[in-house]
Amino acid sequence: MLLEVKDVSSGYGDVQVLSGITINVDAGEIVSIVGANGAGKTTLIRAIMGTLPVTKGQIQFDGKRIDGLAPHLIARAGIAQVMEGRRLFGHMEVEDNLLVGGDILNDKAQQRQNLDWIYSMFPRLKERRRQLARSFSGGEQQMLAIGRALMTSPKLLLLDEPSIGLAPIMVKDIFEKLPLIQARGVTILLVEQDVHRSLSMSGRGYVMEHGEIVLAGTGQELLSNERLRQAYMGI
Ligand SMILES: Nc1ncnc2c1ncn2[C@@H]1O[C@H](COP(=O)(O)OP(=O)(O)OP(=O)(O)O)[C@@H](O)[C@H]1O
Ligand SMILES: [Mg+2]
Repeated sequence: MLLEVKDVSSGYGDVQVLSGITINVDAGEIVSIVGANGAGKTTLIRAIMGTLPVTKGQIQFDGKRIDGLAPHLIARAGIAQVMEGRRLFGHMEVEDNLLVGGDILNDKAQQRQNLDWIYSMFPRLKERRRQLARSFSGGEQQMLAIGRALMTSPKLLLLDEPSIGLAPIMVKDIFEKLPLIQARGVTILLVEQDVHRSLSMSGRGYVMEHGEIVLAGTGQELLSNERLRQAYMGI
């Protein structure tokens, strides 16, 4: 098992948001976490990345316990994230944004390989590599944010709502890359409100409500679950 979140609680100060979350992700999988606004999906990502404290339970990654470690050490262990809001360096050129991402590798040859791969996957980034990131459209920024995360050669990529605010064509374009990223050996944990699209992409998924996991199954099982269809897909 690559990631094991065991009975984890977390929150903001006195406000507990997650209560007793248990999820597993095997190497090579694409796993989705779906749920309504405010369910606690982003909070779970923050707890995994170490930017929020784990107040109960534990998190194992790649055979080691990571809860309680500083975020940069968790990143170094092989977890990369693309957060809601993306946080690019707007004043820097596209390629420099990517190179900064790859800096933690300390391996120029590997960085070069990653850069070539990312450019082949997102030719728009290559065409615009000397442009300032802040001049990018929302979809291009999302590509760049994913590219920058992949520059670190992560074992696990955490994606928080990659589709948010993007035109449907861009969403399609970005989701089409997920199998390519998976094929390169990167495991993906995907948080999405676009329940149908994300479960269709995922081998397995979890449904989160009010800070708890209420349902788990294969992507197909969840897609055909009546309760889920009524609650999230309006059908
Ligand atoms: N910085 C914060 N301080 C206090 N409470 C917060 C903070 N951020 C989020 N929360 C609360 O934690 C709960 C879960 O929020 P979270 O952002 O994890 O939900 P989410 O599932 O990611 O929702 P969305 O789909 O809208 O992104 C919400 O009730 C929210 O108000
Ligand atoms: Mg969120």
